[in-house]
Amino acid sequence: MAHYNLAAILALAFASSASCAAPSYRGGSQIQWGACDPSVVSDTSLSCGFLLVPLDYQDPSVGTARLAIVKANATGERRGSLFFNPGGPGDSGIGSVNDNKELLLTVSGGVYDVISWDPRGVGNLTTPGEIFCFDSLAQYTTFFNGTIEITGIEETGNFTDPADVKTLLRQAPIMQKKYNEVGQKCLRSSSSKFLKYMGTAAAVRDMVSIANVLDGPDAPINYLGTSYGTLIGSWFVNMFPERVGRVILDGVVDPTAFATQEPSQMFSSQLVSADNIYIALLTGCALTGPSGCAAASDGDGPLEIDAKVQTLLTAAYDATKVNASVPVTSGNIRLDLFNEMYTPTDWSNFMNEEYPQLVQIVNGEAPANVSRALSRRSRLRLMDVIRRESLLERESEPNDSPSYTATAIWCADSVNPRGTTMKAVFEGIVSTAQNVSHMFGAGWPTPFYPCSFWPVRSVERYQGPFNKKLANKILIASNMLDPITPLPSAEKLAGLLGQDAVLVRQNGFGHTTFSAPSSCMNGVFSAYMTNGTLPPNGTVCEVDADFEVFDGVNTADILANIPGTDV
Ligand SMILES: *[C@@H]1O[C@H](CO)[C@@H](O)[C@H](O)[C@H]1NC(C)=O
Ligand SMILES: *[C@@H]1O[C@H](CO)[C@@H](O)[C@H](O)[C@H]1NC(C)=O
Ligand SMILES: *[C@@H]1O[C@H](CO)[C@@H](O)[C@H](O)[C@H]1NC(C)=O
Ligand SMILES: *[C@@H]1O[C@H](CO)[C@@H](O)[C@H](O)[C@H]1NC(C)=O
Ligand SMILES: *[C@@H]1O[C@H](CO)[C@@H](O)[C@H](O)[C@H]1NC(C)=O
Ligand SMILES: *[C@@H]1O[C@H](CO)[C@@H](O)[C@H](O)[C@H]1NC(C)=O
Ligand SMILES: *[C@@H]1O[C@H](CO)[C@@H](O)[C@H](O)[C@H]1NC(C)=O
Ligand SMILES: *[C@@H]1O[C@H](CO)[C@@H](O)[C@H](O)[C@H]1NC(C)=O
Ligand SMILES: *[C@@H]1O[C@H](CO)[C@@H](O)[C@H](O)[C@H]1NC(C)=O
Repeated sequence: MAHYNLAAILALAFASSASCAAPSYRGGSQIQWGACDPSVVSDTSLSCGFLLVPLDYQDPSVGTARLAIVKANATGERRGSLFFNPGGPGDSGIGSVNDNKELLLTVSGGVYDVISWDPRGVGNLTTPGEIFCFDSLAQYTTFFNGTIEITGIEETGNFTDPADVKTLLRQAPIMQKKYNEVGQKCLRSSSSKFLKYMGTAAAVRDMVSIANVLDGPDAPINYLGTSYGTLIGSWFVNMFPERVGRVILDGVVDPTAFATQEPSQMFSSQLVSADNIYIALLTGCALTGPSGCAAASDGDGPLEIDAKVQTLLTAAYDATKVNASVPVTSGNIRLDLFNEMYTPTDWSNFMNEEYPQLVQIVNGEAPANVSRALSRRSRLRLMDVIRRESLLERESEPNDSPSYTATAIWCADSVNPRGTTMKAVFEGIVSTAQNVSHMFGAGWPTPFYPCSFWPVRSVERYQGPFNKKLANKILIASNMLDPITPLPSAEKLAGLLGQDAVLVRQNGFGHTTFSAPSSCMNGVFSAYMTNGTLPPNGTVCEVDADFEVFDGVNTADILANIPGTDV
């Protein structure tokens, strides 16, 4: 589901069908399936095609959008289509199906063709494609030189030093000006004319258009959405309640919060579990000990390992105070750690490979071969199911302009600008770091902080109600501890839908239940998708016991040893 390998599926469907029939520019009639570009889609069993749809569903005269679509054939007797969106916003459905075909077929019981698409603003096959507001990475870096956009926010965890608050607030007018200018740059870019046709309502209508072509205009629509994909899901089931087939929403973004608050205000409540997941990482490291986790010494408990991580952060913080051009700031490391909170499957690798390198680099004992360049691939993609590249994997590609797709979607969908100042945004960050997440409250940049200053809103936004009566009961899934789409958001959505939603929790940590293997959860999903069987409301699935987070340490071991306190 990584974003970087998906931009380049070549458009073979039109090419291969060109001799048979001219492609229809009226839109909405058919999808001609053909091979996907082998240089991007490695799985040759997948088919790809296109569908033309109105850019603006309320005003067809505006023109057409072109959706790039992928299909994994059902392995059993086909009962229709299952639509999938991996989140982001801005992640490629095509890339995700290529990378996760087996898993998607498993959880859907093999009885549906798994269909996904690159939504508007994603890649270069769908039109409108990826949104760029800068000509190059160099232009972006120069534009933001010397600001927190490049360095992240420097502080020691909860802004205990009032000087850090002052330093941050001093940047408020500068960053407000920069973000206003970025909005104007986007309005002058070649993406400009598409900005108001981006967004979640368009994604919902696009999915319905594809479903109408594949399964007919009255057929129920089956959908699996993870992370931001749950927002597409909660908008879909309320915009088209009569079309709801079997729907799974996993890793829930609270749709009512999004419809009423600026995204910068929502962030705080999204981080409620993040520090506890950090404690889980420390606990797992302590349990496996030095042989399984490089940060642990004999006899270390979680507190001792935390002290080492804090020492690393403080060293980077101190070094940045002396010389702002250090290769790695504490803000960079915090973002890197935050991304780790998504994926316990990577913790062992992180603590044994990346963490020691970071220590060496910060202590000046290793070459600073870290690129701070924030390319499209390394910008924090807050809702991604799959983490961005780590700090040490970053490559600088001078011409790789950073993508603004995630920002363009979040902001087009968000509430109208309310005159919020950057100072208020920063004060919110200080409060979040002090009260909600010491470790991650000060994460910067994110795709949604520009929204208070973004000049465009979508031609259509769905802002409720979110408690419509649905044609079928849906399944809502959540990890107990999710760093960015926490359990309370899933509980809230389930509460709104009442009898129309069953909530299943996974007793684990990470972003969405897909962050750790669970044959229990796979069974719940496939029984629902194939037979419509829902488990008792409130069912809890365990993570598979043979999945070792660290050598000899599984999820249950960690959960049993987490001290119940905040960091
Ligand atoms: C689409 O993106 C891929 C990968 O970024 C690139 O190789 C390809 O040249 C692009 N195609 C077009 C038509 O721009
Ligand atoms: C998938 O199904 C289509 C028919 O819908 C067929 O043409 C294609 O060959 C199938 N692909 C594979 C890999 O079986
Ligand atoms: C950033 O600013 C510093 C000093 O203000 C300058 O030396 C450096 O070349 C600038 N870097 C970029 C990429 O513009
Ligand atoms: C700041 O965080 C440290 C540990 O990270 C904690 O000991 C301290 O009490 C916190 N201070 C405040 C004001 O929250
Ligand atoms: C600051 O750090 C950069 C990058 O490591 C280095 O090139 C530069 O010489 C340092 N500046 C000072 C004044 O030490
Ligand atoms: C950085 O340098 C270290 C030590 O030389 C090396 O092991 C690591 O692979 C390098 N990382 C990158 C991204 O080049
Ligand atoms: C959070 O911390 C701020 C200080 O930054 C304090 O003024 C505020 O009352 C706290 N909010 C909550 C909800 O505890
Ligand atoms: C499932 O439980 C949640 C509380 O977690 C509740 O809000 C929801 O209405 C329940 N759904 C059903 C079908 O009982
Ligand atoms: C669906 O129901 C059939 C018949 O009761 C059963 O054999 C099958 O195992 C069920 N499938 C799943 C995935 O639960």
